[in-house]
Amino acid sequence: MAKVIALQQPSPYLARPGKDLNELLSTIENIYHIKDLDSLLEIILREARHFVSADAGTIYLVSGSKLYFSYVQNDTLIPAGSNKNRYLAGNLSIPINTNSISGYVAMTGESLLIDDVYDIRSSVSFNFNPEFDKKTSYRTKSILVVPLTTRDDLILGVLQLINAKDGRGNVVPFSMQDRLYISQFAQSAANAIEKAKLSREMVLRLVEMAELRDPSETGPHVKRVGAFAVELYDAWARAHSVPEKELLDTKDLLRTAAILHDLGKVAISDAILKKPGPLTDEERNAIKLHTIYGARLFLRSNSAWDRMAGEVTLNHHERWDGTGYPGNIPDISADRIELGPGKTGKEIPFSARIVSIADTFDALVSARCYKEMWEEQKAFKYLVDQSGRFFDPELVRTFIGITDTIRAIQGKYVDAQPTEHHNDIMHDLEADSLSIL
Ligand SMILES: [Fe+2]
Ligand SMILES: [Fe+2]
Repeated sequence: MAKVIALQQPSPYLARPGKDLNELLSTIENIYHIKDLDSLLEIILREARHFVSADAGTIYLVSGSKLYFSYVQNDTLIPAGSNKNRYLAGNLSIPINTNSISGYVAMTGESLLIDDVYDIRSSVSFNFNPEFDKKTSYRTKSILVVPLTTRDDLILGVLQLINAKDGRGNVVPFSMQDRLYISQFAQSAANAIEKAKLSREMVLRLVEMAELRDPSETGPHVKRVGAFAVELYDAWARAHSVPEKELLDTKDLLRTAAILHDLGKVAISDAILKKPGPLTDEERNAIKLHTIYGARLFLRSNSAWDRMAGEVTLNHHERWDGTGYPGNIPDISADRIELGPGKTGKEIPFSARIVSIADTFDALVSARCYKEMWEEQKAFKYLVDQSGRFFDPELVRTFIGITDTIRAIQGKYVDAQPTEHHNDIMHDLEADSLSIL
């Protein structure tokens, strides 16, 4: 049952820009193909906003007794191409109770349509919290909030759309028809979110298996590497005018592939990965095989997802100048694997060149038991110094151009405690006698 708070003004609904119902139905169909949770939330929010011409919107997801700001878009406050704010919002939460608008919707499963949030009648339990408006000088007015309820009646979160606009850009109320369409859309969206959450949980469980072997491959580390990789790609793709669909499809695959970059470590023995102190050449070579073991898990299948995960696991230690590993391997399933010589330049798959920068940067700025964490500037300088040697120079430049977003990602995915070992990238660096530890 929906509630309408405050009488609707006569709405210039028909004059408003937006999509027709057929477009919405085809969007609903499309979202079922998105595998990555973050890509899915981005698309759901963008499409819902587009459909009703909303200036801003938020998706909150339920975790425990709280609602977490999981995705935020605001055309007025966040210029297109700036991605840092959505990571900043990631740690904010509100309790699920009937005191707030979103809390009320999550608690009761009812949708709310409010013409002006500063004019809510006193007989209802919830209030609009003006803090965000005060901080940002934004003026929230009309709002449409619907629950994200799965077909099993599980409320996964809340979709909130803010400030419907007419054709001239004036803020107007949302209409009853908006509510009807968005409620329908939200139901399909919730089912897709449930599926994507499940896949994300499975992926993180796989990472936990690798983490048992190499304690440096923690959940926060791989989530940062996944987010760095996606944002680096996003900035590069926008600079190259990559079509929106291709951009979103690639981001959808890249995050999971980046998260799984070191999955092959499940096949490396604890005695080597957890060995304190320096490794022998033989042990170092054994670790290098994690690239092959990872690729074996994916490259035998031919889906786009497996292909990218296989590319990244196999090639994330290749270097631009050919001094990386494993090089061209004629048959990754062979019993005996001979490494190298390394692939060079653009022979290294693009996805792996991206993940190599993301993974190295995160290893450098993280604390390990045998090294202090590096200052950010020192780590950036390292990337620049090794640009054209280890890393794709254009990608290094792009990465340094998104510093704000990188910091926001670090603020969102924080290590529980310093991890103990990283017998992988750091040993590569030691091997090069770069005296950077
Ligand atoms: Fe690795
Ligand atoms: Fe890593």
